[in-house]
Amino acid sequence: MSEEKNKRKGNKKEDKKKGASKKKEKALLRETEKRNAVMTAFSKYYEAEWGSERWPILLEALKRPVRHCIMINKYAQIDQVKAKLKDTLHDLVMLDFLSIPCYASKTCSRFPPPSKDSHEITDYYILDAGSVLATEALDIQPDDHVLDLCAAPGGKTLSILQRLDKQYGRLTSNEIASDRRRRLRQVIESYLPPDVLADVSTVVGRDGTRYYGEPEQYDKVLLDAPCSSERHLLHDEKEFELWTPKRTQMNAKRQFSLLKAAVHAARVDGLILYGTCSISSLENDKVIEKMIKKGKIPVEPVKMKWPIGERTKYGWIILPDKTDGWGPLYFALLKRTGVSKEDGEDSESSDDNE
Ligand SMILES: C[S@@+](CC[C@H](N)C(=O)[O-])C[C@H]1O[C@@H](n2cnc3c(N)ncnc32)[C@H](O)[C@@H]1O
Repeated sequence: MSEEKNKRKGNKKEDKKKGASKKKEKALLRETEKRNAVMTAFSKYYEAEWGSERWPILLEALKRPVRHCIMINKYAQIDQVKAKLKDTLHDLVMLDFLSIPCYASKTCSRFPPPSKDSHEITDYYILDAGSVLATEALDIQPDDHVLDLCAAPGGKTLSILQRLDKQYGRLTSNEIASDRRRRLRQVIESYLPPDVLADVSTVVGRDGTRYYGEPEQYDKVLLDAPCSSERHLLHDEKEFELWTPKRTQMNAKRQFSLLKAAVHAARVDGLILYGTCSISSLENDKVIEKMIKKGKIPVEPVKMKWPIGERTKYGWIILPDKTDGWGPLYFALLKRTGVSKEDGEDSESSDDNE
Protein backbone atom coordinates (compact mmCIF):
# COMPACT_ATOMS: atom_id res chain seq x y z
CA MET A 1 0.00 0.00 0.00
CA SER A 2 2.67 2.51 1.07
CA GLU A 3 4.80 1.44 -1.94
CA GLU A 4 1.87 2.34 -4.24
CA LYS A 5 1.50 5.69 -2.45
CA ASN A 6 5.19 6.45 -2.86
CA LYS A 7 5.04 5.61 -6.55
CA ARG A 8 2.09 7.98 -7.05
CA LYS A 9 3.90 10.67 -5.09
CA GLY A 10 6.97 10.16 -7.27
CA ASN A 11 4.91 10.46 -10.46
CA LYS A 12 3.29 13.63 -9.21
CA LYS A 13 6.69 15.14 -8.46
CA GLU A 14 7.89 14.17 -11.92
CA ASP A 15 4.80 15.79 -13.56
CA LYS A 16 5.33 18.94 -11.50
CA LYS A 17 8.97 19.10 -12.58
CA LYS A 18 8.01 18.64 -16.25
CA GLY A 19 5.32 21.34 -15.90
CA ALA A 20 7.82 23.75 -14.35
CA SER A 21 10.44 23.22 -17.04
CA LYS A 22 7.75 23.63 -19.76
CA LYS A 23 6.72 26.91 -18.10
CA LYS A 24 10.36 27.97 -18.05
CA GLU A 25 10.76 27.05 -21.71
CA LYS A 26 7.66 29.04 -22.63
CA ALA A 27 8.83 32.07 -20.65
CA LEU A 28 12.22 31.85 -22.34
CA LEU A 29 10.57 31.65 -25.75
CA ARG A 30 8.41 34.67 -24.94
CA GLU A 31 11.53 36.59 -23.84
CA THR A 32 13.35 35.71 -27.07
CA GLU A 33 10.34 36.66 -29.18
CA LYS A 34 10.06 39.97 -27.34
CA ARG A 35 13.75 40.71 -27.77
CA ASN A 36 13.56 39.85 -31.48
CA ALA A 37 10.53 42.12 -31.91
CA VAL A 38 12.35 45.01 -30.19
CA MET A 39 15.46 44.36 -32.32
CA THR A 40 13.34 44.45 -35.49
CA ALA A 41 11.73 47.76 -34.46
CA PHE A 42 15.10 49.15 -33.31
CA SER A 43 16.81 48.21 -36.56
CA LYS A 44 13.96 49.58 -38.67
CA TYR A 45 14.12 52.89 -36.78
CA TYR A 46 17.88 53.33 -37.08
CA GLU A 47 18.11 51.98 -40.59
CA ALA A 48 15.81 54.83 -41.60
CA GLU A 49 18.33 57.21 -39.97
CA TRP A 50 21.60 55.73 -41.14
CA GLY A 51 20.61 54.08 -44.41
CA SER A 52 20.42 50.41 -45.34
CA GLU A 53 24.07 50.28 -46.37
CA ARG A 54 25.62 51.76 -43.24
CA TRP A 55 23.24 50.55 -40.54
CA PRO A 56 24.26 46.83 -40.46
CA ILE A 57 27.94 47.84 -40.23
CA LEU A 58 27.23 50.41 -37.54
CA LEU A 59 25.07 47.94 -35.60
CA GLU A 60 27.88 45.34 -35.60
CA ALA A 61 30.36 47.97 -34.39
CA LEU A 62 27.96 49.04 -31.61
CA LYS A 63 27.67 45.42 -30.45
CA ARG A 64 31.43 45.11 -29.98
CA PRO A 65 32.86 45.81 -26.49
CA VAL A 66 33.14 49.52 -25.68
CA ARG A 67 36.62 50.96 -26.23
CA HIS A 68 38.42 52.94 -23.55
CA CYS A 69 41.54 55.01 -23.06
CA ILE A 70 43.32 56.19 -19.92
CA MET A 71 43.44 59.90 -19.17
CA ILE A 72 46.52 60.59 -17.07
CA ASN A 73 45.81 62.80 -14.07
CA LYS A 74 48.16 65.79 -14.17
CA TYR A 75 48.09 65.95 -10.36
CA ALA A 76 49.44 62.38 -9.98
CA GLN A 77 53.16 61.55 -9.58
CA ILE A 78 54.09 60.84 -13.20
CA ASP A 79 57.15 58.69 -12.37
CA GLN A 80 54.89 56.40 -10.33
CA VAL A 81 52.34 56.18 -13.18
CA LYS A 82 55.16 55.28 -15.60
CA ALA A 83 56.49 52.61 -13.23
CA LYS A 84 53.02 51.11 -12.85
CA LEU A 85 52.48 50.94 -16.62
CA LYS A 86 56.01 49.80 -17.54
CA ASP A 87 54.91 46.25 -18.50
CA THR A 88 52.16 47.54 -20.79
CA LEU A 89 54.05 50.46 -22.39
CA HIS A 90 54.68 48.54 -25.65
CA ASP A 91 50.89 48.16 -26.04
CA LEU A 92 50.04 51.82 -25.36
CA VAL A 93 49.59 54.46 -28.00
CA MET A 94 49.23 58.16 -27.24
CA LEU A 95 46.08 59.71 -28.72
CA ASP A 96 47.57 62.67 -30.54
CA PHE A 97 44.20 64.22 -31.37
CA LEU A 98 43.75 65.09 -27.69
CA SER A 99 45.60 67.89 -25.92
CA ILE A 100 45.72 66.15 -22.54
CA PRO A 101 47.74 62.94 -22.25
CA CYS A 102 45.49 59.97 -23.04
CA TYR A 103 46.62 56.47 -24.08
CA ALA A 104 44.78 53.65 -25.81
CA SER A 105 45.70 49.97 -25.91
CA LYS A 106 46.79 48.85 -29.41
CA THR A 107 45.34 45.41 -28.73
CA CYS A 108 42.25 46.69 -26.89
CA SER A 109 43.52 45.00 -23.71
CA ARG A 110 42.22 45.90 -20.29
CA PHE A 111 44.15 48.55 -18.36
CA PRO A 112 45.37 47.96 -14.83
CA PRO A 113 42.72 49.57 -12.60
CA PRO A 114 43.38 53.16 -11.45
CA SER A 115 45.16 53.40 -8.11
CA LYS A 116 46.42 56.03 -5.69
CA ASP A 117 49.97 57.38 -5.76
CA SER A 118 52.05 58.06 -2.67
CA HIS A 119 50.17 61.38 -2.21
CA GLU A 120 46.79 59.61 -2.25
CA ILE A 121 45.95 61.02 -5.70
CA THR A 122 44.39 58.62 -8.21
CA ASP A 123 46.63 58.17 -11.23
CA TYR A 124 44.30 57.96 -14.23
CA TYR A 125 40.68 57.76 -15.32
CA ILE A 126 39.35 55.21 -17.81
CA LEU A 127 36.89 56.59 -20.40
CA ASP A 128 35.95 56.82 -24.08
CA ALA A 129 38.35 59.03 -26.06
CA GLY A 130 35.26 60.69 -27.58
CA SER A 131 34.38 62.06 -24.14
CA VAL A 132 37.75 63.80 -23.89
CA LEU A 133 37.36 65.17 -27.42
CA ALA A 134 33.94 66.61 -26.51
CA THR A 135 35.49 68.64 -23.69
CA GLU A 136 38.34 69.62 -26.02
CA ALA A 137 35.69 71.24 -28.22
CA LEU A 138 34.69 73.52 -25.35
CA ASP A 139 38.12 75.16 -25.63
CA ILE A 140 38.57 75.51 -21.85
CA GLN A 141 40.96 78.31 -20.86
CA PRO A 142 42.82 78.11 -17.52
CA ASP A 143 40.85 81.01 -16.04
CA ASP A 144 37.39 79.97 -17.27
CA HIS A 145 34.38 79.67 -15.01
CA VAL A 146 32.66 76.48 -16.14
CA LEU A 147 29.37 74.74 -15.38
CA ASP A 148 29.00 70.99 -15.97
CA LEU A 149 25.21 70.64 -15.83
CA CYS A 150 24.90 66.81 -15.80
CA ALA A 151 28.20 65.72 -14.34
CA ALA A 152 28.14 62.22 -12.79
CA PRO A 153 30.02 59.94 -12.74
CA GLY A 154 32.59 62.58 -13.65
CA GLY A 155 34.78 61.66 -16.63
CA LYS A 156 34.17 64.94 -18.45
CA THR A 157 34.28 66.96 -15.23
CA LEU A 158 37.77 65.51 -14.61
CA SER A 159 38.89 66.31 -18.12
CA ILE A 160 37.73 69.95 -17.61
CA LEU A 161 39.57 70.09 -14.27
CA GLN A 162 42.78 69.02 -16.03
CA ARG A 163 42.61 72.26 -18.00
CA LEU A 164 41.77 74.78 -15.25
CA ASP A 165 44.18 76.92 -13.29
CA LYS A 166 44.07 76.67 -9.50
CA GLN A 167 44.10 80.41 -8.97
CA TYR A 168 41.57 81.62 -11.53
CA GLY A 169 39.66 78.65 -12.97
CA ARG A 170 36.36 77.48 -11.43
CA LEU A 171 34.14 74.50 -12.12
CA THR A 172 30.63 73.88 -10.79
CA SER A 173 29.56 70.27 -11.32
CA ASN A 174 25.84 69.60 -11.03
CA GLU A 175 24.15 66.20 -10.67
CA ILE A 176 20.52 65.60 -9.74
CA ALA A 177 20.74 61.97 -8.52
CA SER A 178 22.06 61.81 -4.96
CA ASP A 179 23.80 58.42 -5.28
CA ARG A 180 25.49 59.51 -8.50
CA ARG A 181 26.37 62.86 -6.92
CA ARG A 182 28.07 61.02 -4.05
CA ARG A 183 30.12 59.04 -6.59
CA LEU A 184 30.96 62.28 -8.46
CA ARG A 185 32.23 63.88 -5.24
CA GLN A 186 34.37 60.82 -4.49
CA VAL A 187 35.82 60.89 -8.00
CA ILE A 188 36.72 64.60 -7.86
CA GLU A 189 38.16 64.29 -4.34
CA SER A 190 40.33 61.35 -5.26
CA TYR A 191 41.84 63.05 -8.34
CA LEU A 192 42.53 66.56 -6.98
CA PRO A 193 44.97 67.65 -4.27
CA PRO A 194 42.99 69.19 -1.37
CA ASP A 195 44.15 72.78 -2.05
CA VAL A 196 43.11 72.63 -5.74
CA LEU A 197 39.85 70.95 -4.78
CA ALA A 198 39.00 73.73 -2.32
CA ASP A 199 39.81 76.52 -4.79
CA VAL A 200 38.48 75.18 -8.07
CA SER A 201 35.66 72.69 -7.65
CA THR A 202 32.08 72.93 -6.34
CA VAL A 203 29.52 70.13 -6.54
CA VAL A 204 25.79 70.92 -6.45
CA GLY A 205 22.65 68.81 -6.78
CA ARG A 206 19.98 70.73 -8.68
CA ASP A 207 17.50 69.85 -11.36
CA GLY A 208 19.39 70.97 -14.45
CA THR A 209 16.17 71.86 -16.28
CA ARG A 210 15.58 74.51 -13.62
CA TYR A 211 19.08 75.96 -13.57
CA TYR A 212 17.83 79.52 -13.94
CA GLY A 213 18.39 82.69 -11.99
CA GLU A 214 22.01 81.93 -11.13
CA PRO A 215 23.96 85.05 -10.20
CA GLU A 216 26.96 83.61 -12.05
CA GLN A 217 27.02 83.62 -15.82
CA TYR A 218 29.52 81.01 -16.93
CA ASP A 219 32.17 81.37 -19.66
CA LYS A 220 31.59 77.75 -20.70
CA VAL A 221 28.74 75.33 -20.04
CA LEU A 222 28.94 71.61 -20.68
CA LEU A 223 25.66 69.74 -21.08
CA ASP A 224 26.35 66.01 -21.38
CA ALA A 225 22.69 65.13 -21.53
CA PRO A 226 21.00 61.91 -20.39
CA CYS A 227 20.08 60.07 -23.59
CA SER A 228 19.02 56.76 -25.18
CA SER A 229 22.61 55.38 -25.00
CA GLU A 230 21.90 52.82 -27.71
CA ARG A 231 25.31 51.15 -27.46
CA HIS A 232 24.79 50.61 -23.76
CA LEU A 233 21.30 49.17 -24.44
CA LEU A 234 22.72 46.67 -26.92
CA HIS A 235 24.95 45.34 -24.13
CA ASP A 236 22.15 45.01 -21.59
CA GLU A 237 19.33 42.61 -22.54
CA LYS A 238 16.88 43.81 -19.88
CA GLU A 239 17.37 47.49 -20.71
CA PHE A 240 17.20 46.77 -24.42
CA GLU A 241 13.73 45.22 -24.08
CA LEU A 242 12.46 48.57 -22.82
CA TRP A 243 13.50 50.46 -25.97
CA THR A 244 10.73 52.14 -27.97
CA PRO A 245 10.83 55.05 -30.45
CA LYS A 246 8.82 56.96 -27.83
CA ARG A 247 11.82 56.85 -25.51
CA THR A 248 13.97 58.85 -27.89
CA GLN A 249 11.16 61.44 -28.21
CA MET A 250 10.89 61.72 -24.41
CA ASN A 251 14.65 62.10 -24.12
CA ALA A 252 14.66 64.83 -26.77
CA LYS A 253 12.08 66.79 -24.75
CA ARG A 254 14.15 66.58 -21.58
CA GLN A 255 17.33 67.41 -23.50
CA PHE A 256 15.75 70.56 -24.89
CA SER A 257 14.69 71.67 -21.39
CA LEU A 258 18.25 71.07 -20.17
CA LEU A 259 19.72 72.91 -23.14
CA LYS A 260 17.55 75.99 -22.52
CA ALA A 261 18.86 76.07 -18.94
CA ALA A 262 22.46 75.55 -20.15
CA VAL A 263 22.19 78.48 -22.57
CA HIS A 264 20.63 80.60 -19.87
CA ALA A 265 23.56 79.88 -17.54
CA ALA A 266 26.17 80.98 -20.11
CA ARG A 267 27.24 84.61 -20.37
CA VAL A 268 26.76 86.51 -23.63
CA ASP A 269 29.58 85.35 -25.96
CA GLY A 270 30.02 82.28 -23.75
CA LEU A 271 30.11 78.76 -25.22
CA ILE A 272 27.75 75.84 -24.62
CA LEU A 273 28.80 72.31 -25.53
CA TYR A 274 25.82 70.00 -25.95
CA GLY A 275 26.64 66.28 -26.08
CA THR A 276 25.00 62.86 -25.96
CA CYS A 277 26.07 59.27 -26.58
CA SER A 278 22.95 58.69 -28.68
CA ILE A 279 22.85 57.87 -32.38
CA SER A 280 19.36 59.35 -32.77
CA SER A 281 19.26 62.66 -34.66
CA LEU A 282 16.16 63.51 -32.64
CA GLU A 283 18.40 63.68 -29.55
CA ASN A 284 21.29 65.35 -31.36
CA ASP A 285 20.99 67.80 -34.27
CA LYS A 286 17.23 68.23 -33.85
CA VAL A 287 17.66 69.48 -30.26
CA ILE A 288 20.25 71.99 -31.48
CA GLU A 289 18.05 73.05 -34.40
CA LYS A 290 15.13 73.68 -32.07
CA MET A 291 17.35 75.81 -29.81
CA ILE A 292 18.60 77.86 -32.75
CA LYS A 293 15.16 78.31 -34.27
CA LYS A 294 12.86 78.44 -31.25
CA GLY A 295 14.98 79.27 -28.20
CA LYS A 296 14.33 82.64 -26.58
CA ILE A 297 18.01 83.32 -26.08
CA PRO A 298 19.90 83.83 -29.35
CA VAL A 299 22.63 81.30 -30.09
CA GLU A 300 24.67 80.39 -33.14
CA PRO A 301 26.36 77.10 -33.96
CA VAL A 302 30.16 77.13 -34.01
CA LYS A 303 31.62 75.07 -36.83
CA MET A 304 34.39 72.66 -35.94
CA LYS A 305 36.54 69.97 -37.48
CA TRP A 306 38.26 67.11 -35.67
CA PRO A 307 40.74 64.41 -36.72
CA ILE A 308 38.29 61.63 -35.88
CA GLY A 309 34.54 61.45 -36.47
CA GLU A 310 32.24 63.07 -38.98
CA ARG A 311 30.31 66.30 -39.45
CA THR A 312 26.56 66.48 -38.88
CA LYS A 313 24.26 69.38 -39.77
CA TYR A 314 25.09 71.33 -36.57
CA GLY A 315 27.81 69.35 -34.81
CA TRP A 316 30.10 66.37 -34.89
CA ILE A 317 29.61 62.65 -34.27
CA ILE A 318 32.09 59.93 -33.38
CA LEU A 319 30.84 56.48 -34.33
CA PRO A 320 32.64 53.18 -33.69
CA ASP A 321 32.41 51.85 -37.27
CA LYS A 322 34.52 54.75 -38.56
CA THR A 323 36.85 55.48 -35.65
CA ASP A 324 38.49 52.26 -34.44
CA GLY A 325 35.71 51.62 -31.98
CA TRP A 326 35.30 55.02 -30.24
CA GLY A 327 31.91 56.50 -29.46
CA PRO A 328 29.08 57.00 -30.04
CA LEU A 329 29.56 60.58 -29.01
CA TYR A 330 27.68 63.48 -30.56
CA PHE A 331 28.55 67.06 -29.70
CA ALA A 332 27.63 70.51 -30.93
CA LEU A 333 29.06 73.84 -29.88
CA LEU A 334 26.81 76.89 -29.48
CA LYS A 335 27.75 80.47 -28.80
CA ARG A 336 25.32 82.61 -26.84
CA THR A 337 25.05 85.81 -28.85
CA GLY A 338 22.67 87.97 -26.83
CA VAL A 339 20.08 88.34 -24.11
CA SER A 340 16.57 86.91 -24.16
CA LYS A 341 14.43 87.95 -27.11
CA GLU A 342 11.55 88.46 -24.68
CA ASP A 343 11.19 90.12 -21.30
CA GLY A 344 11.81 87.83 -18.34
CA GLU A 345 14.21 85.15 -19.46
CA ASP A 346 13.10 82.96 -16.59
CA SER A 347 9.51 82.56 -17.71
CA GLU A 348 9.45 79.75 -20.23
CA SER A 349 6.22 79.23 -22.14
CA SER A 350 4.72 75.78 -22.58
CA ASP A 351 5.46 75.62 -26.32
CA ASP A 352 9.12 75.19 -25.40
CA ASN A 353 8.27 71.79 -24.09
CA GLU A 354 6.46 70.42 -27.08
C1 LIG B 1 25.26 61.17 -19.67
S1 LIG B 1 25.31 61.23 -17.96
C2 LIG B 1 26.63 62.34 -17.65
C3 LIG B 1 27.98 61.67 -17.75
C4 LIG B 1 29.11 62.58 -17.28
N1 LIG B 1 29.13 63.84 -17.96
C5 LIG B 1 30.47 61.93 -17.42
O1 LIG B 1 31.21 62.25 -18.35
O2 LIG B 1 30.81 61.09 -16.59
C6 LIG B 1 23.92 62.22 -17.58
C7 LIG B 1 23.75 62.53 -16.10
O3 LIG B 1 22.71 63.50 -15.98
C8 LIG B 1 22.00 63.25 -14.78
N2 LIG B 1 20.72 63.94 -14.92
C9 LIG B 1 19.58 63.49 -15.49
N3 LIG B 1 18.62 64.43 -15.43
C10 LIG B 1 19.16 65.51 -14.82
C11 LIG B 1 18.67 66.78 -14.45
N4 LIG B 1 17.40 67.16 -14.72
N5 LIG B 1 19.49 67.64 -13.82
C12 LIG B 1 20.77 67.29 -13.54
N6 LIG B 1 21.30 66.08 -13.86
C13 LIG B 1 20.50 65.21 -14.48
C14 LIG B 1 21.93 61.75 -14.73
O4 LIG B 1 21.67 61.31 -13.40
C15 LIG B 1 23.31 61.34 -15.24
O5 LIG B 1 24.21 61.19 -14.18
